[in-house]
Amino acid sequence: MTLATRSLRAGGREVPLLAGPGALTDLPRALSASGFEGRLFVVGDQYALDLHRSALQSVLGAAPVLSISGREEDKTLESVARVWDWLVEGGAQRRDGLLAFGGGVVCDLVGFAAASYLRGVGLVNVPTTLLAQVDASVGGKTGVNHARGKNLIGAFYQPLCVVADTSLLATLSPRAFAAGMAEVAKIGMILDARLFEHLEQVADRLGPADADALAPLVARSIELKADVVERDERESGDRMLLNYGHTVGHALEAGAGYGTLLHGEAVSVGMQAAAKISQRMDMLGWEAVERQAALLAALHLPLGWRANPDEILARLSLDKKRAGSRQRWVLAERIGAGRIRDDVPADVVREAVSSITLR
Ligand SMILES: NC(=O)c1ccc[n+]([C@@H]2O[C@H](COP(=O)([O-])OP(=O)(O)OC[C@H]3O[C@@H](n4cnc5c(N)ncnc54)[C@H](O)[C@@H]3O)[C@@H](O)[C@H]2O)c1
Ligand SMILES: [Zn+2]
Repeated sequence: MTLATRSLRAGGREVPLLAGPGALTDLPRALSASGFEGRLFVVGDQYALDLHRSALQSVLGAAPVLSISGREEDKTLESVARVWDWLVEGGAQRRDGLLAFGGGVVCDLVGFAAASYLRGVGLVNVPTTLLAQVDASVGGKTGVNHARGKNLIGAFYQPLCVVADTSLLATLSPRAFAAGMAEVAKIGMILDARLFEHLEQVADRLGPADADALAPLVARSIELKADVVERDERESGDRMLLNYGHTVGHALEAGAGYGTLLHGEAVSVGMQAAAKISQRMDMLGWEAVERQAALLAALHLPLGWRANPDEILARLSLDKKRAGSRQRWVLAERIGAGRIRDDVPADVVREAVSSITLR
């Protein structure tokens, strides 16, 4: 059953966003509704393809498939070039399209390949991780990493449609699942108190195989992200709210070695820091700070991380210098509402960072 969520109006087109168990079977219908009549070239995460190739084949038949590594280290221009080479060899034309089948790494890099091949061919996102379903596949940000930094090369490019089939999540590890849930909790915290409450009710018994129970959570997260992107596609205002928990989260990620801390785990710890700052700025009550902590704990997410607070603070001020302005913080005013502030005193930041770093 597909929960037809909504469509996103962005980049001059209307993007249908479908979510639910078995949503993949609705792909052909969504594609023909969008006027697409070309051939589809599938580029998939090797691991996701091994696990779910038959589900994909039953919908797409004999479409050509390229299997690539979905590892963050391979989110590079070289991998994009492999996709371009494969398209050239296969004689892909302007009317044809690419289908990204995998997590955020594959959606980002295949999206960029689609944006640039023949100056843009159709793109379909079929995200196979929870994080990619609720975040990376929606909104049109595509790109790859550069040796000097994450996501430095890329383009805004909207897909023809996004199909978030929650049955594909059954094979996720508990850790990857929890990391995706951090983004759902984040969206609830800054945009929707009802989503947050729903999550509180189900958090401790939700697992990757609960395709039906996950469907409304994924669908609502996608809707809320789409609302924000419609208001602010290029992240000059509202879209920044989606970075709640990410300021400290990115600093933690940059400090931890690759693979030690998943993105969603870093966001969880970063949300704790942001909530503490919000509380010290007299925006958020203690009760709400504690509810957020309890929810993240019930989702099996970390609330603190072993790190040197001075290193985290140094990374934060490096970011601020790069931006050439005051540090902007996405804070919570209450559960379900976020606000951006650029007047957080240094000692408040220090205190919050100390509170989330473990020795
Ligand atoms: N474009 C955006 O707006 C946006 C937003 C958030 C994150 N991102 C990007 O997304 C990436 C992270 O995405 P991610 O968390 O999905 O990580 P990922 O793509 O690295 O996938 C994580 C792991 O899950 C495996 N996997 C994929 N599908 C699976 C399945 N169904 N069952 C079991 N394992 C599966 C992959 O092989 C991989 O090892 C980062 O590169 C980040 O920059 C982009
Ligand atoms: Zn994130």
